[in-house]
Amino acid sequence: MQRILSGIQPSGVPTLGNYLGALRNWVALQHDHECLYCVVDLHAITVWQDPHQLAAQTREMAAALLACGIDPERHVLFHQSAVHAHVRLAWIFNCIARLGWLNRMTQFKDKAGKDRENASAGLYVYPNLMAADILVYHATRVPVGDDQRQHLELANDIAQKFNHDYGVEFFPTIEPLILGPAARVMSLRDGTKKMSKSDPSDQSRINLTDDADTIALKIRRAKTDPEPLPETPAGLEGRPEARNLVGIYAALAETDAAAVLAEHGGKGFGPFKEALAALTIARLEPIAEETRRRLADPGGVDAVLRKGARRAAEIADPIAAEAERLVGFLPG
Ligand code: TYM
Repeated sequence: MQRILSGIQPSGVPTLGNYLGALRNWVALQHDHECLYCVVDLHAITVWQDPHQLAAQTREMAAALLACGIDPERHVLFHQSAVHAHVRLAWIFNCIARLGWLNRMTQFKDKAGKDRENASAGLYVYPNLMAADILVYHATRVPVGDDQRQHLELANDIAQKFNHDYGVEFFPTIEPLILGPAARVMSLRDGTKKMSKSDPSDQSRINLTDDADTIALKIRRAKTDPEPLPETPAGLEGRPEARNLVGIYAALAETDAAAVLAEHGGKGFGPFKEALAALTIARLEPIAEETRRRLADPGGVDAVLRKGARRAAEIADPIAAEAERLVGFLPG
């Protein structure tokens, strides 16, 4: 059975983009993989996080993951900072990755923006830690949204260079799993920008905790163009907002864009948005409800994370120790 690892930052409430691009696939993959899912609090602090909020958001993210259907009995759900092996391997990877490789990372450029000199060093080496998250478990499959593709290519470059430099076949090749019609969900306000937990405008995203009225309003106000919906997917070319809403509908209805357009093509956005709102509410409300129920017992959520961290460390500690031995460190 192949081992899966994936992670999500506790830098806000999970969005519909996180859900359709990643979390839904995490849940489905539990049937035939050994899965480790990680709330990446070490990654979150690469930009400033209020300490009380970070702790609360880590717990809330874990509750949301449980509500989506992550099974902590059969698989491993944990918070990254509790498993020190990630950081041990990340340091080695900081010394393997080349500055030229990191300079090509588009996500760093997006996040650092114009004020690059003022970005944290952690934000710059973020992809090295992400590579360590995966490789410290010798995981081979990584379900993510499309925006993480470049980071996974870098992780493979790091693994290969480590193996080459130390003359070993220690780290495996990682296969990205970028699945479904909504691997890249865009902002509701701008079809060329990714939907993101950290967008300053709450109107740009649907949060997994939004109530029915909020979801309906956000979809009704979503940016569109004046044309009716096309009859076929080819007609979505050059219409990013229409493509995005159709992709979301297809993912939620577990079908594809062609089937959605066969039903809704030729109509205006008004009735389509009503149908999309109803479908989104039907899918997300049970998750919001279950998240609230889980959070009513914060100690219970924390216990799940602690137990997950112990199980994760049992796998990761020996792999980190072997990497350190290969590098030439004396045992501690
Ligand atoms: P993060 O927290 O930004 O997002 C978590 C997951 O959600 C996906 N995603 C999206 N998918 C479709 N459309 C969107 N608009 C959208 N926004 C986010 C992301 O692709 C991701 O799969 N660096 C990672 C976290 C990470 C990680 C890892 C992932 C740390 N270590 C190891 C995999 C393996 C991140 O910031 O994800």
